[in-house]
Amino acid sequence: MNDSGIPQEGHNKIPKGWMAFFAGVIVFLVWYIASFTPAISGWSFYKEYEKEMKDGEKAAASATTDPGKYIGKADAIAEGKTEFETNCAACHMADASGGIGPNLKVALKYGSTPDKIFESISKGRPNGMPPFQQQLGNDKVYKIVAFIESLRK
Ligand code: HEC
Repeated sequence: MNDSGIPQEGHNKIPKGWMAFFAGVIVFLVWYIASFTPAISGWSFYKEYEKEMKDGEKAAASATTDPGKYIGKADAIAEGKTEFETNCAACHMADASGGIGPNLKVALKYGSTPDKIFESISKGRPNGMPPFQQQLGNDKVYKIVAFIESLRK
């Protein structure tokens, strides 16, 4: 206890770090209020919402399920070729000319359109063609379709 009668508080200086933090908080608050007040910055929840919806639409559009989307694209065809060599060559041969599985360079029994070829690969076919949907997903199969398509011309 201090009972000298002289106020002691004047001796306790506020630490500099604390003052800096305090000033920082005020600056932050001013910035925060300004940037999220529609009348000041133009920020609006509705704008955010619309932007998000638009981004979502774009993402949905780019994820279209078009098995023919890589046809004629050299990079994708090269990737498809690699996938084909890894997953398919054992039965169809590396050049798709056929072995256990049929030749894929000719007219195909289950259909030769990108849609049908995609279906054959993803879902499999009854006489010994295994389904690859689980293992490869759609995108790799699209690339394989592009590769097969490139052999057919
Ligand atoms: C275990 C051997 C095997 C593997 C591995 C295999 N296939 Fe097949 N594939 C077959 C057989 C057998 C058929 C014929 C199925 C039928 O006639 O019902 C076939 C059929 C197909 C067909 C349809 C042909 C037609 O005449 O309509 C396509 C397309 C095809 N395979 C592509 C692929 C691709 C691409 C891969 C690699 C991702 C692959 N296959 C891997 C054995 C295989």
